[in-house]
Amino acid sequence: MSPAPFITSWPAHAARGESLDELVRIYAPELTLVTAALDLSASDRQALAALAASAPLFEFAKETSPEGETLEFALPWMEAHAGGSVWLRHAQTLVALFSDLFEAERIGARLTLSNKPMCPRFHVDNVVCRLVVTFSGAASEFLADDDVRRTLLGAKESVVERGGAPVHRLEPLEVGLFKGEAWPNNVGRGVVHRSPPGDERRLVMTLDLL
Ligand SMILES: [Fe+2]
Repeated sequence: MSPAPFITSWPAHAARGESLDELVRIYAPELTLVTAALDLSASDRQALAALAASAPLFEFAKETSPEGETLEFALPWMEAHAGGSVWLRHAQTLVALFSDLFEAERIGARLTLSNKPMCPRFHVDNVVCRLVVTFSGAASEFLADDDVRRTLLGAKESVVERGGAPVHRLEPLEVGLFKGEAWPNNVGRGVVHRSPPGDERRLVMTLDLL
């Protein structure tokens, strides 16, 4: 019998939901990261992967509304690629969900196609809560709270994870809500995360409360 694959379960402060409805669990005080998979058709997945593989690298950032009205301004960066309209449709769904969850009228949206890690070092975000979804490519990584030496966060070249600590990774198309340090009573508990290493092209969207 071959050995069982090594499976590292997520820490107690992180939860994977079955559907996007479950992202509301981010309000549970004991949770600092909640995720749920986007349910995409095979053709939508292929369109996004093709977009990520062939569009020019870009970074788009824009304030938007619950209706996601200004998101379409990102489309020129995608050079009329078929994946652009697929992205727009799902992005507008996520903006609506995010604004509903936090009763927010103003949302900061950022879409990046890059081939190097944007935030290669483990860090916390000084925000209330950030939605992060990787539409194509390897997704965000995070550490269990118990594995972080927080006093070393921010120091250059420091290794914040304890020796042998597993690095957890979201899946592509898995929507993550990451509590930051500005969430009420969350100082010292923001999710410690980073971009995955490597030079693979990644299409990543983040949403923030403004
Ligand atoms: Fe971050």
